[in-house]
Amino acid sequence: MKFVLSGVKPTGIPTLGNYLGALKNFVRLQNEMKEFEFLIFVADLHAITTPQDPQELKEHTRSVAALYLASGLDLDNLTLFIQSEVHEHVELGYVMQSLAYMGELERMTQYKDKMQKQVQGVTSALFTYPALMAADILLYDASYVPVGDDQIQHLELTRNLATRFNNRYHDFFTVPEPLTVKVGSRIMDLQSPTNKMDKSAENPKGCISLLDSIPTIKKKIKAAVTDNEAKVYFDSEKKPGISNLMTIYSSITGDSLQAITALYEGKGYGDFKNDLAEIVAKEIEQVQTKYFEWIHSPMLDEILDEGKARASMFARSKLQKLYSLMGIGR
Ligand code: AMP
Ligand code: TRP
Repeated sequence: MKFVLSGVKPTGIPTLGNYLGALKNFVRLQNEMKEFEFLIFVADLHAITTPQDPQELKEHTRSVAALYLASGLDLDNLTLFIQSEVHEHVELGYVMQSLAYMGELERMTQYKDKMQKQVQGVTSALFTYPALMAADILLYDASYVPVGDDQIQHLELTRNLATRFNNRYHDFFTVPEPLTVKVGSRIMDLQSPTNKMDKSAENPKGCISLLDSIPTIKKKIKAAVTDNEAKVYFDSEKKPGISNLMTIYSSITGDSLQAITALYEGKGYGDFKNDLAEIVAKEIEQVQTKYFEWIHSPMLDEILDEGKARASMFARSKLQKLYSLMGIGR
């Protein structure tokens, strides 16, 4: 069995960035890579690297699972599960910590950034989290891991850890490859377009949540920060705002950046933003309609139960082989 695997942290409701950089991409890949089985999970244990309200964490975990389904994943080729329900992730995570060097983890940008921002101190789980992420992937010998731009560094670490283990013991792990989208792997904040759109943004105006009301979504697009030039063309250095909006446009419609430039030649930002607001609203509205069906459906739990059983079967077998190889246990 060959796997494509990915996860999303339930630290909040996924954003338009998550959708375009991850969720929507999984759906496309499922159509293109029929010979692979898709393992998709909600990374709830990754969420607690920063403090979480228990009630909200539970709700978000369920919402993320429902949003995966609402994005249109094909159920016939999907194992959907909650990370914490497959205990082997944590066990292999610890083994990965025994392989990862402090220096390697200190270099991870997400850790460095969060350490700078976090007032009350950085947890050791935040520091070791890339080792757990490596475990998530290596546990299933995933061949491909579709992720946004920000996760490439973690994938590189995963590859290094897999290779290190393979050299030290035996050829045991598949060394995974990242898969990123060409357009949309880094959607920026609408109010400060030099920062990544993030669930935990301080200013909610810059971030579109997949469960924002449709009027709110349109309003946020129309109020996005742009520049004074009033010409629609792509230049991420000089025109980060417009370039970000063009990226969003392109990743939903499939139109190339050149085609969009041509389409809005001689028109101002108003026309462009109005059209984009409609395009984004229509796309998200479809997702929301399906989301509200899934979130109230008992089938969601059935899918997650089946996912847990199937993922556990692979995980258990891999971990037993690994312990035996390492000389752990009797
Ligand atoms: P996270 O919300 O950090 O769990 O991210 C889940 C997935 O969404 C990962 O593959 C990220 O790389 C991707 N992602 C998160 N934020 C963005 C963004 N602003 N643009 C594109 N992809 C993103
Ligand atoms: N760390 C990822 C993020 O913050 C989520 C994640 C956890 C993940 N484990 C993974 C993604 C394994 C891909 C594969 O976005």
